[in-house]
Amino acid sequence: MLTVRSLDALRVEIAALRAHGRVALVPTMGALHAGHMALIAAARAEGARVVTSIFVNPKQFGPNEDLSRYPRKELADARMLAEAGCDLLWLPPVEVMYPDDFATVISVAGVSAGLDGPARPGHFEGVATVVAKLFNQVQPDLALFGEKDFQQLAVIRRMVADLNFPIEVLGVPTQREDDGLARSSRNVYLDESERAKAVAMPRALGEAARAISKGADVDAALAQARETLAGAGFGPIDYVALVDAETLGDPDPARPRRLLAAAKLGNTRLIDNIAVDLK
Ligand code: PAJ
Repeated sequence: MLTVRSLDALRVEIAALRAHGRVALVPTMGALHAGHMALIAAARAEGARVVTSIFVNPKQFGPNEDLSRYPRKELADARMLAEAGCDLLWLPPVEVMYPDDFATVISVAGVSAGLDGPARPGHFEGVATVVAKLFNQVQPDLALFGEKDFQQLAVIRRMVADLNFPIEVLGVPTQREDDGLARSSRNVYLDESERAKAVAMPRALGEAARAISKGADVDAALAQARETLAGAGFGPIDYVALVDAETLGDPDPARPRRLLAAAKLGNTRLIDNIAVDLK
């Protein structure tokens, strides 16, 4: 696997990969785990050459978020990527991404407005802006994102459609630990007792999703999920919400729905989501 850190080198290597077929991009912030590896595997299953980017994007962190302590593990990441069959690692320096005179912001209305939107002002603008730049830098045929960050996936899909990026976006199911906790680079922040409590998040969502798909009262099921989270030690709870799986707007029982939650456990904010089966 080659590693490149300049746009000139990136262009040369992408041109070489393109001679072999489709190019897939897997954007990441590093501290890679089995969730990221599932994206690489899915890209390879598409028969594409795989480019992974690692860039801890300052524009998507709020002033009180964890930018400075976000885990950075470049060597281990590169090793994992090489073993997984990634072809090219793109490590843009921050001054290449955001020169001093950088002035553009991409804002995706609607899908960014609810859920994490109010809790993390500017977050999805930071994500959309950096992903649009990565798309222009790499010019992939397809790009893969995890359903773990379900709202992010919806924001990217909307942006790709609105801005006519000629890129196929693939969503990959959430990879979980054995007890059900969604894998996340931020799980390393949890101490032992928090880690034990964290399983309440997938459990609460799973129970509520099953109840709702069987026809239970939605408000009661959501309230029960909030109670389960609070009982396990989560708080504050930003939201437990049922939305339309595509628009993230009001749910319609005749269309696919998604149940999403975000809550703090100690100092760590966890998010998770699950499909609600059609009746
Ligand atoms: P990061 O959190 O590193 O995640 C990179 C990709 O891995 C995202 O598409 C995310 O949804 C996916 N992912 C993370 N955990 C996963 C899991 N348990 N199962 C499946 N997929 C998982 O998301 C970002 O970085 C950034 O916002 C980024 C898109 C790179 C823009 O900066």
